[in-house]
Amino acid sequence: MEVLEEILRNAESAIQAAADLKSLDHCRVQYLGKKGQLTEYLKTVGQLPPEQRPLIGQKVNIAKDKIQTLIEQRDAELKQAQIADQLASESVDVTLPGRSQHFGSIHPLVKSFEAIRSIFTQMGFAFVEGPEIEDDFHNFTALNIPLLHPARAMQDTFYFPDGLLLRTHTSTVQIRAMKKMSVPLRIVAMGRVYRRDFDMTHTPMFHQMECLMVDEAISFADLKGLMTQFLREFFSADVPIRFRPSYFPFTEPSAEVDIGCLNCNAKGCRICKKTGWLEVLGCGMVHPNVLKGAGIDSERYRGFACGVGVDRLTLLRYGISDLRALFENDLRFLKQF
Ligand code: DAH
Repeated sequence: MEVLEEILRNAESAIQAAADLKSLDHCRVQYLGKKGQLTEYLKTVGQLPPEQRPLIGQKVNIAKDKIQTLIEQRDAELKQAQIADQLASESVDVTLPGRSQHFGSIHPLVKSFEAIRSIFTQMGFAFVEGPEIEDDFHNFTALNIPLLHPARAMQDTFYFPDGLLLRTHTSTVQIRAMKKMSVPLRIVAMGRVYRRDFDMTHTPMFHQMECLMVDEAISFADLKGLMTQFLREFFSADVPIRFRPSYFPFTEPSAEVDIGCLNCNAKGCRICKKTGWLEVLGCGMVHPNVLKGAGIDSERYRGFACGVGVDRLTLLRYGISDLRALFENDLRFLKQF
């Protein structure tokens, strides 16, 4: 009897001490299992005198039930604790401040491109693209700038060892479009161009937009109307506009277009060098040699074209003073747009 009581005491404290379900299961095996202490004890009952056996057998059964009950209780306790732990560790503190979102912003140049696209699309122009790595033919010869022509010096070009070059203007796309598409046509090309220039107002890579229209009965008046419409829509203002005679090898006659200085309302300031005017683009009637070179009948068709520095236009549109700000990717600057 003493042995049985001791087994019972040990079992009780072992069950209470079980810290998790695994050690509790270990207790079950140790006391109630096939080779457990209680089973082993039961085997010794056979050696007792017959009249004592029923009583001891009964006691063993009571002990067994007791251990079984204790294990079940402990099992329930441990499971409860486990759930409580899990709830505590998975809970969300809804009083914590939220994580703020950082929104990107559209680059001012991209905004200009979008504005140009919208204005010219409404006027029936198609948008086309051309390669940035070009050949001499498309960048110069086909634009009426033959080899040794002094106009080549107007644009300081980056050459590759094999004679290819980085396009110095988007006028190259005029040639590609005229050769590929049929006339009449209206196209706009926008993209990167490159020149060996680097100072306050020049970067070696910058952006141009080129427009070209070829048709039978178009004149310089159409060009003037289109440029005026474009600039007034782009700057969302009734800006004064003037055309000055100029020279480009690929147009004849050629003009440069100025707008009244936005900074001083055309009164004269540092930005417009006291003139009240800012030059914004070059344009003209397409030179017959250029049309002929692209296989277009220059007796029947005429064209006009323009080339615009989009970076400069963007500076003017947003009142930015330093061209380099467009390419430095300073978030404090970019976030303002
Ligand atoms: N390609 C000229 C430049 O980069 C700009 C230009 C002037 C383009 C007159 C034209 C044009 O299409 O008609 O300086």
